[in-house]
Amino acid sequence: MVSRSDFPKDFVWGASTASYQIEGAHDLDGRGPSIWDAFSAEPGRVKNGDTGNVACDHYHRYKEDVALMKAANFGAYRFSVSWSRVLPEGRGAPNEAGLDFYDRLVDELLQSGVAPWLCLYHWDLPLALHKSGLGWTSREIVPLFADYAGLLAKRLGDRVSHWATFNEPNMFTMLGYGAGVHAPGIRDREAWLDAVHHVNLSHGAAVRRLRGELPAGAQIGSVPNLQPALPAANTEDDRAAAAKMDSAMNRGTADPVFLGKYDPIMREWMGARIKPGDEEAIYTPLDWLGLNHYSPTYAQARVNAFGFRNASPPEGAETTLMGWHVAPGAFRDMLVETSKRYGLPVYVTENGMADDVEADTAGRVEDTARVSYLNRYLGAVLEARAAGADVRGYLVWSMLDNFEWAMGYGPRFGVVHVDYRTLRRTPKASYHFLAELAGAKASM
Ligand code: FCB
Repeated sequence: MVSRSDFPKDFVWGASTASYQIEGAHDLDGRGPSIWDAFSAEPGRVKNGDTGNVACDHYHRYKEDVALMKAANFGAYRFSVSWSRVLPEGRGAPNEAGLDFYDRLVDELLQSGVAPWLCLYHWDLPLALHKSGLGWTSREIVPLFADYAGLLAKRLGDRVSHWATFNEPNMFTMLGYGAGVHAPGIRDREAWLDAVHHVNLSHGAAVRRLRGELPAGAQIGSVPNLQPALPAANTEDDRAAAAKMDSAMNRGTADPVFLGKYDPIMREWMGARIKPGDEEAIYTPLDWLGLNHYSPTYAQARVNAFGFRNASPPEGAETTLMGWHVAPGAFRDMLVETSKRYGLPVYVTENGMADDVEADTAGRVEDTARVSYLNRYLGAVLEARAAGADVRGYLVWSMLDNFEWAMGYGPRFGVVHVDYRTLRRTPKASYHFLAELAGAKASM
């Protein structure tokens, strides 16, 4: 088992969540709807008709959740802000009550010794923007996103040290605009490419706004999900498909943001979307890179708009409830490659696994498979560090079991179990495992 002394003293331990997945309070205190409220209300979109209306009710129970972070001795908590809670229309007049919630959350974290890491966008676009044609497929969203960033920087910049623009821009653009399986449910290659480019431009505009508003020393980054794209079969066609998948899923949002240049495949696909000056507008120096990673992916050649489709992991591979391949070696390689390619300090901002383990008769949640997964993936972090990767922290996905997007409440990713009927929280074995690594005094 990995142990605390394997990691440097200043290694950052923590957990991540996202607003729509945990907050609930979907129509309280002036919050406007997001595309996920609309999407989950549409029959057939989310498994079992689940919605984020209540979720973990973190909006009301944040003190209890922060107390659990404190007891685990976590040094950082990455959360996202619900754009439509603070700007119900996505622009215009801010909602003071919504801003107050994040004020309270940030203060509670600071009082508990947990650094707030704020992510501006974890997938819940204000519905009003989408409906009026100002969503990610429109270039007009760029200054609106920068204004939203500026609003939060003004309000919270005196207390929030770490800022991220986007969570997994590669994932939500493909799932929401290319494949149509996430909000807003659009399935169109051109819309996907539009969204990717406008998200990239929005990132650049937001970072510049943040730099202008935040105190010197603010740590600004972005959070891609990078997964090796491997050919399903060792054929020329599948290898070509894997190269396309790598561009679409890994390079398309990371290269312009971290290197200032689209890769050749994406550049060709983007065509006239890339206007003179766009790459310069997207790129601006950052302080850190948040790496989300769960498993490698497999590409199969396909005659479709993308030239590839997602294939299953190889026969006999160890997989989780999501069907994702457990492969810590791929994680190690991705950490090494990411650190080298992008040259920034790397923090793991998401990693973890889904199960459906409930409390036993003694009331304990013994998620032994997760403990094993975390142990092996943290071993990969150590190997990557030994190979020279500049990995400085590990924030598990997730603090709490939560609304897993189109999969609803079935898959449980938390290190704290949530009973969705009573909303009771129960720390799992994996929580105690991480708490010990983070140096918590005594396990609860
Ligand atoms: C990531 C998302 C996160 C969660 C995990 C399981 O892609 O960022 O919200 O759904 O997957």
